[in-house]
Amino acid sequence: MTRLTILTAPDSRLKLKAQPIPAVTDATRRLMENMAETMYHAQGIGLAAPQVGVSQRVIVVDVNYCQKEGKKNPIFLANPEILQKEGEVVWNEGCLSVPEHTSEVTRAAHVQIKGLNQHNQEVIIDADEVLAVCFQHEIDHLDGILFIDHISRLKRSIILQKLKKKKQQGE
Ligand code: NI
Repeated sequence: MTRLTILTAPDSRLKLKAQPIPAVTDATRRLMENMAETMYHAQGIGLAAPQVGVSQRVIVVDVNYCQKEGKKNPIFLANPEILQKEGEVVWNEGCLSVPEHTSEVTRAAHVQIKGLNQHNQEVIIDADEVLAVCFQHEIDHLDGILFIDHISRLKRSIILQKLKKKKQQGE
């Protein structure tokens, strides 16, 4: 497994709409494994392919491992789609591509997601709470949307300016 480099905002590659993949192949599975390795190392609970510079509709999510130090149990999905949304929840979100910043975002509290798993089988997943938030956050990445796109323009520009400055300082 290879650890990949995570792009951080501002970066035009994070704004692209990613392409659906025709099928989950060995190459996709390698990407999924490398994304999981990268996510666990960075102590994230989700990662989308555009965050590692791959413009494909592939995500990995594991909301339990980092918080509870449990067993790794990644959910891999290609071409994920939200079939149903219900309710509302406010979560303080962060993102590996927006390091050191968090903000409250309102999202659906329950979602039903459809996608292809690592075996190229179609699966349907019902998710609540943090898992629902995480799926919505990762699917947003596939459409070039970051959590800071859901907050006020002023807050967003402050965060982006700080991140830009940090990049210029080469940190
Ligand atoms: Ni993110």
